[in-house]
Amino acid sequence: MSSTIQSPNRPAGDAGAAGQRDVAADLRYQAGFGNHCVSEAVPGALPEGRNSPQKAPLGLYTEQLSGTAFTAPRAENRRSWVYRIRPSAGHPAFRRIDNRLLRTAPFVDADPPPTQLRWDPFALPSLPTDFLEGLISIGGNGDAGSQHGIGIHVYAANRSMTRRALFNADGEMLIVPQSGGLRLVTELGVLEVAPREIAVVPRGLRFRVELLEGTARGYVCENYGAMLRLPELGPIGANGLANSRDFLAPVAAFEDRDEPWELVSKFAGNLWSCAIDHSPFDVVAWHGNLTPYKYDLRRFMAVGTISFDHPDPSIFTVLTSPSENAGIANVDFVIFPPRWLVGEDTFRPPWYHRNFMSEYMGLIHGVYDAKAEGFVPGGGSLHNSWAAHGPDAVTFERASAAALAPHKLEDTLAFMFETRYIVRPTRYALEAAQLQSDYVTCWDGLRPHFNRAP
Ligand SMILES: [Fe+2]
Repeated sequence: MSSTIQSPNRPAGDAGAAGQRDVAADLRYQAGFGNHCVSEAVPGALPEGRNSPQKAPLGLYTEQLSGTAFTAPRAENRRSWVYRIRPSAGHPAFRRIDNRLLRTAPFVDADPPPTQLRWDPFALPSLPTDFLEGLISIGGNGDAGSQHGIGIHVYAANRSMTRRALFNADGEMLIVPQSGGLRLVTELGVLEVAPREIAVVPRGLRFRVELLEGTARGYVCENYGAMLRLPELGPIGANGLANSRDFLAPVAAFEDRDEPWELVSKFAGNLWSCAIDHSPFDVVAWHGNLTPYKYDLRRFMAVGTISFDHPDPSIFTVLTSPSENAGIANVDFVIFPPRWLVGEDTFRPPWYHRNFMSEYMGLIHGVYDAKAEGFVPGGGSLHNSWAAHGPDAVTFERASAAALAPHKLEDTLAFMFETRYIVRPTRYALEAAQLQSDYVTCWDGLRPHFNRAP
C-alpha cells in the first residue's frame, strides 16, 4: 500500500508528505480531442488484444465506463476501459446530504425576469469550504433528468477536497477557473488547470478538486445535454478556432490507499453520500476515448474580419453541445480572447442586439470591450432570450469617436455560456447582494443623435 499518487508522472514514493502537490511541469498529458488514449501507470497493467480477459493483468478488476449509450453512432460513442484495484461497485447505499446552494434543472423556484442582470463576484468563503461545498447555482434551463439544458454555477473555495470524491450523474462539468489553480484528481489521472485554462469532467467520472493556491474561484457549466465537442468549421476549413491537438487528457495515475473516504454522487438534482474504506482513484491502467480533458484558452486561434463589420460571436466558439436541431446549441462555450481589431468603417465593440439564444457571460481576466465598468473578473451577466443589450453609454461614445487604426485588444478574456433555452435564475441568485440593482442604468446615457438634415 502507498499513500501517494502513482503514475509515470511521478515515481511511487516520490510524492512527499500528504498535501504536497505536483507542479504542472511534472504532469504529462495525452494530446488530441476525443482521441482513443492508452495509458498504464504500471507496465503490463493493460491487457493486450482484448478488453476483458478471464484474468486481468496484475490481479486488477476490469470495468467499462460508458459515456454514451452502447449503440451511439461510432462518431459519438465514448467509452473507456479501466483496470482497477477494486471494482467501483463496492460501496454501501447512498444517503442524502445537504445540497447547500447547488441546484439542478428544472429551475422553478423563481420567475425569470426579462431584465438584463449582472452580478458582482461572490465572496470567497470565510469558513472552510471545498469545491463541492463552494458551488453556488446562478440558474439554468432544461431538465437534467431528460438530458437537456445546463446548470450555471460559480464556485469559491478555500480548501481541497480531502478523502472526498464526487461524481456527477446529471451532467458533464465544464470548469472555468477565474482565480486560483485547480488540481483535478480523476479516476483516469491528474489534470492541473489555472485561470485562462478550462477542464471538462465527463458525466459519472469520479474526481476530487485540490487547490493549488490558498483560494480558488471560477465558473461551472454543468451540461445535461449532448457531450461537448468541437464545432464544425465550415468554410473556415480544417484548422483554426480550438485545434484538436491542444486538448489534453491525463495519463493513468492511481492511489492504493485503505483509509476512510467519502463518495458523493450528484444524482437527479441531489447530493448523496456514502462511506468507503479506500481511495476510489485506484485505476492502474485504462484505454478509451471517454476522458477528462483540459485546454489552454490562449491557444484559441481567433478569426475575425479583415475588411469591415464583425462576424457573429459564434466564430469564438470553443466547444459546443448540440441539440436535436441543427445549429441551435444546447450550449456553446464561447470566449472573447485578446485579438486584433482592424475593421474599417466599423463600430468595433459588439453591436446592440437581441438574441434568440440566452447568454450568461463571465469575465476571467481584464476588461470586456463592451462594458467600460461594472463587469469585473469573477462577476457575471445574464442576457436572457430577447433581452436587449450591447455597449454601455461610455463605450458607445468612445467607440463611435475612436480612430480606426489597427488596435489590439489586450488584457481581456471573457466567456459566454450561450444556450437555446431561457436561463431561469435561482431565487438565491436573484436575491443575492451581489446582484447589481443599477445594471440596467448602464444604457441610460444613450441619447438620440438623430439629425433629419445632417
Ligand atoms: Fe449578446
